[in-house]
Amino acid sequence: MPNTPDDDTSAADPSLPAAVPSGGLSREPAAGVGGTLGGGLDSGLGAGLTATLGQGSGLTAQGVHRSFGSVRALAGVDLEAHAGAVTALVGPNGSGKTTLLLIFAGLLVPDAGQVRVGGVDPVTHHQAARARTGWMPDVFGTWDSLTAREVLLTFAAAYRLTRERAEARTTELLETVHLTEFADLPASVLSRGQKQRLGLARALVHDPDVLLLDEPASGLDPRSRVDLRILLRLLASQGKTVLVSSHVLTELDEMADDAIFLSGGRTVPAGTVATAQAAPRTWRLRALSLAALVGWLTTVGATWLPDDERDPAARGTGPGDPPDGPGGVLLQVDGEAGAATLLRDAVAAGVPITSLAPVGGALEQAYLALEEERR
Ligand SMILES: Nc1ncnc2c1ncn2[C@@H]1O[C@H](COP(=O)(O)OP(=O)(O)OP(=O)(O)O)[C@@H](O)[C@H]1O
Ligand SMILES: [Mg+2]
Repeated sequence: MPNTPDDDTSAADPSLPAAVPSGGLSREPAAGVGGTLGGGLDSGLGAGLTATLGQGSGLTAQGVHRSFGSVRALAGVDLEAHAGAVTALVGPNGSGKTTLLLIFAGLLVPDAGQVRVGGVDPVTHHQAARARTGWMPDVFGTWDSLTAREVLLTFAAAYRLTRERAEARTTELLETVHLTEFADLPASVLSRGQKQRLGLARALVHDPDVLLLDEPASGLDPRSRVDLRILLRLLASQGKTVLVSSHVLTELDEMADDAIFLSGGRTVPAGTVATAQAAPRTWRLRALSLAALVGWLTTVGATWLPDDERDPAARGTGPGDPPDGPGGVLLQVDGEAGAATLLRDAVAAGVPITSLAPVGGALEQAYLALEEERR
């Protein structure tokens, strides 16, 4: 559910760009996003962009508070998201992610604290901040009467791109998000995932230095999710600051350089996150014979749990009574070195191992460990 900004500094429609100051976008973008997503990584784009960002790039928040009536949505947020990196914003429902992104996007004003977008305060220098910010809300509304191309041209015009530049950029972005064949259809007929992709193109139309993406992968099919990942990595490699919220932690794992955890409107201190990340992780060990696997684990005195999720047949199976045939168990392993030792010993003992892998990614493990701590 998108937030409804409740103060008069907010635009009526959070999707709409503020008018940008004359000249604010007059510089030509240093680089486009490249052709289609699949082959974009080696396109050598953006070489000069990192240099142009210089000091004051990235995103910072210090002591940010924001309440809605009696609801304290943000109760002390401190963070730094660096240029040239993808930073994941992670937290349970209602932890304040969208509220924080809206503040960075200049669509909400904090009650207390400071934020900077590329060194600019979006509260006092609203237009300058928005000129360098691309904002993709969790749900992207479109006008029924406009085609996908017209939506992008309209936003490009609002950001004061020249007509020529707007047309080139629109064509390029429609290709990037694989909507070229839908370019001249009313945007209202686009599917949910296609609308998300149009929303992404819209956020990129003025080639912003900072990207704020609120659950951009939601509704995307697997191919589009891969494309999104590649695109965000490409944009980061061009020196952009990318802050992305998502609940799909395995995906964030693959694309994010850093992660910021929000809990109850506060940033979880880095030390706490590091401890959670260092905790032993759960691994899944599978063998051609569950009986042989369990027999060996019992012999060596290892503690394990049945892998109910993967093998419902093994549900409730005690260590002494494993079903025959392939199956697996879950166990705590201390890092990759611990996994290597476990695998070596199992194979040496003649257990027909088929796989050993961590359950979930590092972010998911840290998230679950932090959740556990909060209980
Ligand atoms: N406009 C609003 N009016 C009143 N309360 C609000 C408003 N926007 C957000 N809140 C409240 O602030 C808290 C944080 O909401 P927010 O949308 O920022 O969470 P979130 O982390 O984005 O959650 P989700 O993962 O579900 O998207 C919630 O308790 C929510 O109910
Ligand atoms: Mg949200």
